[in-house]
Amino acid sequence: MSDAESDKQAAAEAAAALVEDGMKVGLGTGSTVAYLLPALAQRSLQLRCVATSLATEEAARKAGLDVERFESEGGLDQLDIAIDGADQVDPDGWLVKGGGGAHTRERIVAAAADRFVVITSGGKIVNALVAPVPLELLPFGLPATLRALDPTVLREGADPSPDGGVIADYQGSVDDPRGLAAWLSATAGVIDHGLFPPDLVADVLIARGGEVEHRRVSS
Ligand code: 5RP
Repeated sequence: MSDAESDKQAAAEAAAALVEDGMKVGLGTGSTVAYLLPALAQRSLQLRCVATSLATEEAARKAGLDVERFESEGGLDQLDIAIDGADQVDPDGWLVKGGGGAHTRERIVAAAADRFVVITSGGKIVNALVAPVPLELLPFGLPATLRALDPTVLREGADPSPDGGVIADYQGSVDDPRGLAAWLSATAGVIDHGLFPPDLVADVLIARGGEVEHRRVSS
């Protein structure tokens, strides 16, 4: 296994250790989360999980985790912990997410959780966020939405999200993440974007060379 892969695994295992019996758990998406699922299953805890993508849902069930729908009325409406990867983490705890196009569901799951834990290798830690910022757009009016969001490009080869959204990437400056996040959220046709603010993030677990740094961002 490469160093980057063993760092992802170390971060994922450190996050799995934070989960306690009886918890309701949000499962993120991506190659780092792929290490979380067996690590969690191995602990043989009684857990109720929701997944941020069909790929995670399938992999989690295969690992033996109990995954519930997150859309049915009367289902889970709050989570104790959500654990997910990130594409970039800046010094203030701002994240860029959505490399796998799952950012809309990932934000919903993170926001529903009392504690949102980010797991990452050291390579995702940046001094300042840069483009691309993933977007999910409504198909209706897509050309007009893309025009309003210039410079934004459709993500080549990306499937629509499970909710029917079109995945695209904003290619402009990310110097002011809070201002950009507000502008993207306010633009008609944007379902969601991949800029996650520090106030959403409780902890970042960063693995480098087998050591895991535990950074607390907000409580
Ligand atoms: C998916 C995501 C992922 O968490 C992010 O892309 C990191 O993925 P990986 O763990 O594979 O590096 O936001 O939409």
